[in-house]
Amino acid sequence: MITQSTFGEMPDGTVIEQFCLTNNQGVSLEILSLGGIIRRWLIPHNAKPPTDIVLGFDSVQAYLSDDSYLGALVGRYANRIAEGKLCLESKNYQLDINQGDNCLHGGSQGFNNKVWQSTVLSRDENPAIALQLESPDGDQGFPGALSTKVIYTLTESNRLKIEYFATSKRTTVFNPTNHSYFNLSGHNSGSVNNQHIQVVASYYTPTDAHAIPTGELIKVEGTPFDFRKLSTIEQALTSAHPQIQYGNGLDHNLCIDSYDPQSQEAKYAAKATSENTDISLKVYTTMPGIQVFTANHFDHKKGKQDSLYHAHQGLCFETQFYPDSPNQPQFPSATLKAGEAFYSVTEYEVLF
Ligand code: GAL
Repeated sequence: MITQSTFGEMPDGTVIEQFCLTNNQGVSLEILSLGGIIRRWLIPHNAKPPTDIVLGFDSVQAYLSDDSYLGALVGRYANRIAEGKLCLESKNYQLDINQGDNCLHGGSQGFNNKVWQSTVLSRDENPAIALQLESPDGDQGFPGALSTKVIYTLTESNRLKIEYFATSKRTTVFNPTNHSYFNLSGHNSGSVNNQHIQVVASYYTPTDAHAIPTGELIKVEGTPFDFRKLSTIEQALTSAHPQIQYGNGLDHNLCIDSYDPQSQEAKYAAKATSENTDISLKVYTTMPGIQVFTANHFDHKKGKQDSLYHAHQGLCFETQFYPDSPNQPQFPSATLKAGEAFYSVTEYEVLF
C-alpha cells in the first residue's frame, strides 16, 4: 500500500511529497521527494509500538540546514573527490569544494538538496516509487547533462530495493548512494556501540587525516576494520589505531569481496544486528565499496520527536565506488561514458 501526503515546502514554494510504503508484513517506510530521503523505517513488533530504525528530522528546515545527509540520496559522486579535481578524456574540471579542500557528496547543492519528480509505480504488493532528476551540464562542476532515476521498492520479503539508473550526454563520473543512518535498537535509543556488524571485506582503503584515500588497499586482518566475523562496533571504536583516531570512529571504505563488475545481481556484503530488539539488517549490492560510518561528529543534534542524536548513534552502510576513484586509476572506475546506461542496485533486508 502507498499513501501520499505533503511533507512541506521548499523556500521557493515547491511542494515536497511524502510517500508511505507499507508491505503485507507491516513494514513501513516514509520517503520524501526532497533528496529521496528515507525519513522513517518502521519495523512491527507484536504488542509493542513499531521500532523506527533510521535517524531523521521532522521539518524541511531541519533537513535543509543540516549537513549530515540523513537518509538522503547522494550524488553525483558519493564521498570525496580530492580538491574537487576531475580529469576526463584529457579535460580538467573543477568541482564545487564544500568540505575542507575537497568535494564531498556531489558538492554543496547535491542530489540530497533537490526535489525529485516522483511517480507511484506499484500500490499493492511490493509497493514502489520512482524518483527522477535532471542534473544540467556543469552542475556542481560535473560535465554532461545527466538524467537519473531511482526506484525504491519495498518487497514482501522485507527488502528495500534501491535501483539507480542514469545516462549522461557527455562523459562524466557517477557514484550514487543512500545515506541512511541505521540504529536497529531504534533511532532514539542511544549509541550503536553494542550492536554487531559483519562486512565481507578483506581489504580497506586507508585515508589521510582529511578522509582522502592514500591509494593503497590494506588487508583488514589484524586491524579494527576486520568485520569478516560478526563483531561489536565498540571493539573498533575503542581502538587506538591511527585511522580510527582521525575521524573519532569508523568512517572508512571497505572493499567488498564479492564485487563482480560484470554482474547486475546484488550480492551479500554486510549485516548489522541489535540484541535489544532482535532486528537485523542485511546489505546486498552490485557496488565495489561500502563506507562504514558511525555518525562520529553528532553532538546533541535535534532529531525526530524531540530526540537528541549523539556521536555514534547511527550506522551508515553507504554502498559506493571507492572514494576519490577519479584520481586513483587503480580503483574500480566510476566513469560513465556519454550515452551509456548506468545501473546499480543495493538492497537492505530487515529481519525481525
Ligand atoms: C559520510 C562521510 C563522513 C561525513 C558524512 C556526512 O559519508 O564519510 O565523513 O562527511 O558522510 O556528515
